[in-house]
Amino acid sequence: MTILVTGGAGFIGANFVRDWLAETGEPAVVLDALTYAGNPENLAGLDGGGRHLFVHGDIGDMRLVADLLRARAIRAVLNFAAESHVDRSIHGPEDFLRTNVVGTFRLLEAVRAYWDGLPAADRAAFRFLHVSTDEVYGSLGAGGAPFTEGDRYEPNSPYAATKASSDHLVRAFHQTYGLPVLTTNCSNNYGPYQFPEKLIPLMIHRALTGRTLPVYGDGGNVRDWLYVGDHCAAIRMVLAEGRVGETYNIGGRGEKTNLEVVHAVCAILDSERPRPGGRPYHDRIAFVPDRPGHDRRYAVDASRVAREFGWAPRETFDTGIRRTVRWYLDNEAWVRNVTTGAYRDWTARQYGQ
Ligand code: NAD
Ligand code: DAU
Repeated sequence: MTILVTGGAGFIGANFVRDWLAETGEPAVVLDALTYAGNPENLAGLDGGGRHLFVHGDIGDMRLVADLLRARAIRAVLNFAAESHVDRSIHGPEDFLRTNVVGTFRLLEAVRAYWDGLPAADRAAFRFLHVSTDEVYGSLGAGGAPFTEGDRYEPNSPYAATKASSDHLVRAFHQTYGLPVLTTNCSNNYGPYQFPEKLIPLMIHRALTGRTLPVYGDGGNVRDWLYVGDHCAAIRMVLAEGRVGETYNIGGRGEKTNLEVVHAVCAILDSERPRPGGRPYHDRIAFVPDRPGHDRRYAVDASRVAREFGWAPRETFDTGIRRTVRWYLDNEAWVRNVTTGAYRDWTARQYGQ
């Protein structure tokens, strides 16, 4: 028994592989194209014991995927691979179409061909779990009820539109071909190994390197924050117990405005790594022009995973954010290695020098 984890060298995928190997005895094969967001260091230390194999490749490479599925007798595919950053999708959507839409389609085709050829019992047990996002549902007003699995898709960014397309393809492969799929739609994750282009690691990194802390618009946009380890646990449960063809929303009941998040990061840094001279980090907050099409609020109703699997997040935002800031303080070499030339080009383009 082996699972295939696509995008397993990225933030959530790597956390998932670590969690999976710690919690189950089952080997995992990682397939990752190692884009700017993928980093083999995220899997460092997992090499021993033959329970983990890393393969450098693209989910759109059907021949490679077919060979891997057959050679490793894969019994489940977990698709984390994606272009995942909203701001980059605004500057250049095409990579998002290539991986999130065409890549997912080609992965599904390769998986379908493999699954078609399995003996009946293995076909019945096989699963394709697609990891998606709450952004497919669009934006909530201040008083709007959190997203449920039945809500209409209203994606607003190129990123969200491509994730919505991939969700539809996954659904279609179930409805049309009977492929045993599961889809999860999760809220904003944070935690170790997150690339410092996303809000929380970006703020930590910029604070520690003496830069401004750029908050888009008025800082009042709300996200529902979930510690990555809690997301991984929910995915394990959906894989084990989810009903084929169904979707599952996952969220942290952790709604915060962006300003609240940035202030929380600053307050932890004030006590863990005070600025020379004693000024508070929040002095460096700078309001910058808003993201185009910026969704105002996300919140997820995760009562289905709670009811059906007994899932609940173990971390609150307060405990999770503390763990996260400490991880970045303890892993400055990791941050240095990922904030090289291409990263600097991106931040210069997005935030100026
Ligand atoms: P990430 O950008 O950190 O990692 C993505 C990984 O996919 C990288 O390792 C990258 O190299 C790999 N990849 C990209 N294109 C590929 C391709 N064509 N073939 C193979 N590998 C490829 O993203 P993340 O934050 O870890 O997100 C993982 C998944 O979870 C994504 O599908 C994302 O949409 C979804 N998601 C993310 C969040 C979040 O808050 N980060 C929340 C909900 C859902
Ligand atoms: O909701 C789930 C989604 O969460 C995932 O599907 C995406 O892959 C993930 O990137 C994330 O999308 P967001 O756009 O919500 O995350 P990001 O970290 O880019 O931004 C979080 C909020 O912070 C958002 O309202 C924009 C704001 N922001 C972000 C950056 C990078 C700022 O104010 N300043 C910044 O510099």
